[in-house]
Amino acid sequence: MVEHPIARDCLTRMRDFRTAPREFYNLLSQLSYFLAQAATQDLTVKYQPVATPLATEDFPTLNEELAIVPVLRAGLGIMEGFRFFCPEAVIGYIGVSRDEQTLKPACYLKKLPKLAGRRVFVLDPMLATGGSAAMAVDAVRGAGAARVILVTIISAPEGVELMQKRFPDVPIYTIALDRCLDDKGFIVPGLGDAGDRMHGTVEPPA
Ligand code: PRP
Repeated sequence: MVEHPIARDCLTRMRDFRTAPREFYNLLSQLSYFLAQAATQDLTVKYQPVATPLATEDFPTLNEELAIVPVLRAGLGIMEGFRFFCPEAVIGYIGVSRDEQTLKPACYLKKLPKLAGRRVFVLDPMLATGGSAAMAVDAVRGAGAARVILVTIISAPEGVELMQKRFPDVPIYTIALDRCLDDKGFIVPGLGDAGDRMHGTVEPPA
């Protein structure tokens, strides 16, 4: 869990139903920097000789190939911090939509580069049942990912349990672990549907 008072404050603002799409998206982007910092903390380095104007010595350089894979749509909201921290990462996309009745995920787009040997950050703000994240992890594994890291904003215990059972070697970086899922599969207290809120496509109540 990524704990920081400013990150917690951001998330509280996002939870507030009055927060408009533009501010919601800005807050999501702000949180992505906290997550990117935390999720890249254990990247490995190798030492290489570098000549400064005064001397040549061995200095650390990044020793990993990286990839960023947002799960559309909501995952787009947490790309900014990862692109900032990992400007040389390759980027792939997975579109996954969860059926509102069955809660089963369906993949409608897969545009992945070759991921062999890469550490892959899979981005999806909401981990509810875990079905969408599991589908995304399977897809990046299928494309050869060496290591996979799941990055979320809010996680439900149900989703964390599923991910830990199916992918014990996939660490999860999140800002908050919420209480539970309701009978429609929404995280409670949560923030609603992150994809809709950041894109301004929330349906008005009937
Ligand atoms: C939401 C959310 C996750 C998924 C979580 O996406 O952004 O991707 O549901 O649910 P799960 O853990 O039960 O699978 P949604 O299908 O609403 O698509 P969107 O991002 O386009 O809004």
